[in-house]
Amino acid sequence: MQRSLFSSTVLLLLLLALMSLGLISWAWTAPDCTIADSSLLPNLSYYVPFCSLDPGLHLFASCSNVKDLVQTLRRVPPDIEALCLQGIVPVLPANAFGHFPSLRLLRLQLGTLEITPQAFQGLGLLQHLIFEHHAPCCLSLFLPPDALEPLGFLSTLSFQGYCLNCSQNIQLPSSLSHLSLRHSCLTELQELQGLFPMLMPGTSPTASLRQSLPFLEVLDLSSNLKLSHVGVRALHGLKVHSLKLDRTPLNAFSLLGSGLLYLDFLSLVSTGIEKLPGNVTSYFELRALDLGRNQIQNIEDEDLPICSSLELLNLHENHLQSLPIRFLNTLTQLQRLNLSINKLGPTLLLPEGLVSANLKVLDLSHNELSVLPSGAFSFLPQLQELWLSGNNISILSNDSLKGLRWLRTLDLSWNKIKMLKPGWLSSLPALTSLNLLGTYLERITGMQLQGPQKLSHLQLSSPEMLDIYPPWPPALLSLEIRAKQWIQFSVPHGEPFLLLENLTLQTCYVLLLPANTTIHFPSLRHLTLRGCSPYIFSNSSTQRFFLQLPLLEHLHFWSDPDETENLHLLEMPRLRVLELGDLNFFYESSSMKLEMLLEKMPQLQVLALSHLNLGNFSMSRFRGLDQLQLLLLNSEWALGLDISFQELIPLMPQYVYFSDVTFTCQCESSWMGPWATQAPNSFVYGLEKAMCTVNASDYSKTPLLSFLSDHCSHDLEFRGFLTSFTLVLLTTVLALLGCPKWPWLHHLWTLFYRWWWKLCGRGPRSQFHYDVYISFCEQDRAWVLEELVPALEKSPPAGEGLRICLPERDFGIGQDRMDAMVANMENSRTTLCVLSCQALGSPWCSLELRLATYYLVARPGTARLVLLFLESIDRWKLRGYHRLSRWLQKEDYFDLPLRRVEWEAFCEKLRRRLRKAGQERDD
Ligand SMILES: *[C@@H]1O[C@H](CO)[C@@H](O)[C@H](O)[C@H]1NC(C)=O
Ligand SMILES: *[C@@H]1O[C@H](CO)[C@@H](O)[C@H](O)[C@H]1NC(C)=O
Ligand SMILES: *[C@@H]1O[C@H](CO)[C@@H](O)[C@H](O)[C@H]1NC(C)=O
Ligand SMILES: *[C@@H]1O[C@H](CO)[C@@H](O)[C@H](O)[C@H]1NC(C)=O
Ligand SMILES: *[C@@H]1O[C@H](CO)[C@@H](O)[C@H](O)[C@H]1NC(C)=O
Ligand SMILES: *[C@@H]1O[C@H](CO)[C@@H](O)[C@H](O)[C@H]1NC(C)=O
Ligand SMILES: *[C@@H]1O[C@H](CO)[C@@H](O)[C@H](O)[C@H]1NC(C)=O
Repeated sequence: MQRSLFSSTVLLLLLLALMSLGLISWAWTAPDCTIADSSLLPNLSYYVPFCSLDPGLHLFASCSNVKDLVQTLRRVPPDIEALCLQGIVPVLPANAFGHFPSLRLLRLQLGTLEITPQAFQGLGLLQHLIFEHHAPCCLSLFLPPDALEPLGFLSTLSFQGYCLNCSQNIQLPSSLSHLSLRHSCLTELQELQGLFPMLMPGTSPTASLRQSLPFLEVLDLSSNLKLSHVGVRALHGLKVHSLKLDRTPLNAFSLLGSGLLYLDFLSLVSTGIEKLPGNVTSYFELRALDLGRNQIQNIEDEDLPICSSLELLNLHENHLQSLPIRFLNTLTQLQRLNLSINKLGPTLLLPEGLVSANLKVLDLSHNELSVLPSGAFSFLPQLQELWLSGNNISILSNDSLKGLRWLRTLDLSWNKIKMLKPGWLSSLPALTSLNLLGTYLERITGMQLQGPQKLSHLQLSSPEMLDIYPPWPPALLSLEIRAKQWIQFSVPHGEPFLLLENLTLQTCYVLLLPANTTIHFPSLRHLTLRGCSPYIFSNSSTQRFFLQLPLLEHLHFWSDPDETENLHLLEMPRLRVLELGDLNFFYESSSMKLEMLLEKMPQLQVLALSHLNLGNFSMSRFRGLDQLQLLLLNSEWALGLDISFQELIPLMPQYVYFSDVTFTCQCESSWMGPWATQAPNSFVYGLEKAMCTVNASDYSKTPLLSFLSDHCSHDLEFRGFLTSFTLVLLTTVLALLGCPKWPWLHHLWTLFYRWWWKLCGRGPRSQFHYDVYISFCEQDRAWVLEELVPALEKSPPAGEGLRICLPERDFGIGQDRMDAMVANMENSRTTLCVLSCQALGSPWCSLELRLATYYLVARPGTARLVLLFLESIDRWKLRGYHRLSRWLQKEDYFDLPLRRVEWEAFCEKLRRRLRKAGQERDD
């Protein structure tokens, strides 16, 4: 007892040392937490819920129902970059996040919260701190004046749904650039002076100028529903570029007396404004003004001159029916004008007059426009982006787009366009991106897209079917096509898409005309297929669309759920991300096997399987996927995970997610509970709340883990396995360490390792019944009995006199063969597997090899396995056998392809190896 306690301590210390060396990335299931690396799968949030993030951050933990903060955080790996906590925690204790030195974003939804002064100690790299509460306004939050002091890199500080009126004199880090106080209980702007005196150094006696902040980028006071007063000189001394007062009852004109001197951008979305606030614009010389979702019906001519400083004007979702004659003429600085969701149609009447030399972006989406008069935009020569989505345009005459020499982006999506005239793009030489989604085109020829030489992004669609003809735009990098029924590529000479990197097809069928042709996609990296029939990759069909995809890295394939065609994927040597959805792997006639699909993708890092009806799922399907980092199973009913998983646990991907999966209640899966909570190196999501059902037609559900703990008891075996695995991990790591720099360490380790096994009382028994257990299959039996066994049993001095265990000779009569196999294998120093193709195909031999492998992995140092190949066997087949190669050394393999070649020398070598193995085992 004491001994094992001591040895566990040693082990623990070693592990800790290794962890601190950063050699092992360590993660466990954390109840109610999601831990993920969103750099692996861009779409991860679609399957696994997590809180919104800053785009640059990938490694995050998101925990809900937090009640005991310390306990929750103990299970979160220390190297995360973003942490979101939701629950009820009344007090944030000192040094609450000290274990997460690399934290960049912290989002707290913890209810009524009191923060102790040292709570954020140690978060020197934190950039975003967010306090959030989403229920009726507002909760009270106490923030001590110097709580934020340790946050030397803080740039965003946000309070939402909290009242700060108990806090005063909060010191802000000088790195701060964004401050938000949304859904709060501010009634007048003057309150800011008391809260953050550093913002307005001029007004407060307590704050000296020295303490003041440099320019604040954004001050966001949106959704303060009671904020109606400003207060005299309330903002005097505040230096801010952008002020957001969206959804507040504040009268914008009252800002004029606030003492605010300098402002670039003012946002007044949904504030009920009926008139352009001209004198506010001119007072601050605003460069940007957002008046979205207001009630502006028309713009008076006299307001325009005083708005002349504007570079950006957003009038999105107002009630504008026309623009004043002198609009662009007067707003000479204007670069972006957003008029989406107004009523400027049906005929576009952009006021003529002087050319605007500066306007670069014009948004006229959703304006009920039907007619674009000829030369409608000819006075906007600098225009780079034109957005016309969601209008009623059906005809584009050749000169509607005249004069737009610099136009790069044209969005005509969701219009009634039925046909395009050749040459309609000829006046747009700079166009790079064209969006024609949601239109009614049935036929597109390359001729219709001629003109722009640099067209690189193209989106096309048709309600039912679409025919496409070359020549393809020469610079095309990204192509998206949608049609409900089919898309037909008419390619008389197999015109290739030479530079195309991204292709998205959303349709049932893809046809090629003529049928015996092929199209090449030599540069394709991202392929997304939605609703497609699997035949698109099929070998058997004459209609095979893709011939080869040598550079493909991402494949997202959602099948047409009604299709029963088998999926056959191509060789994809570079594939890193594979997302498969809506395929039926389990229907009767399916010959489709997941492992066969995966064989051709040695580089796979991410595998996301959604709605595939997998039935019984064997992890041996993942043979050879050495690079796999993320495995996701989504929307599965009656999923069974078989026991072969257990051997592979050490090699499982770093992240395993089960989302919306119902399992089969079976004890074969009993390893899952301990695995999910204790498996090193893997984070497992979604088992705590998972349900299981008796079979696929049973709709009553039991919680999986409670079923397993009530009905099955394989727990102990698994624990033993984990312990031994941990040791193997240590050997591997130390062996790596020891090679070649520190050989002494390696020796030390070997010593420790042997000592450990003895200490644990699991040391090898020195009395074995046999030296070698031979596993072979029926077909090789004659050779084994007549040639191999005599050669090995030959007594000294000619041979070694090895004691051999042969099933037919040495198994007790009437003994259960399985039991005998296990017992005799345990009783032999070494297991010798005689392998041929037939052996690998035979269930019994597979079982023996599997068992031997299990001992090898589970009892390293005491089990030995030697493989003898009677013919050359594809190495993948063997690697498939539990990645044996990782556990075997070179001299554990013997090749004897012609069976008789150099028989004597071979026997000698084999005997030597077996003897050595036996000695090692005896040590
Ligand atoms: C992400 O998922 C959504 C929903 O299934 C899908 O529409 C979108 O295309 C996906 N994006 C990628 C890059 O796969
Ligand atoms: C904070 O302000 C809210 C709303 O004005 C008010 O109901 C509450 O009593 C105030 N709390 C304190 C401590 O002043
Ligand atoms: C600004 O204009 C508004 C309405 O146009 C007017 O009510 C207000 O008095 C003006 N304020 C100043 C300071 O000119
Ligand atoms: C116009 O404004 C709306 C609402 O703010 C926004 O969603 C849209 O992207 C803007 N258009 C452009 C071209 O920026
Ligand atoms: C769209 O244009 C067609 C004529 O092209 C017209 O009949 C129809 O009423 C218009 N629809 C709307 C919503 O303006
Ligand atoms: C292709 O798609 C990927 C992922 O959506 C994107 O990051 C990349 O920029 C796209 N490339 C082009 C040329 O559009
Ligand atoms: C396709 O078949 C047609 C006649 O059926 C033949 O003329 C043409 O050469 C074939 N093309 C290819 C690429 O085999």
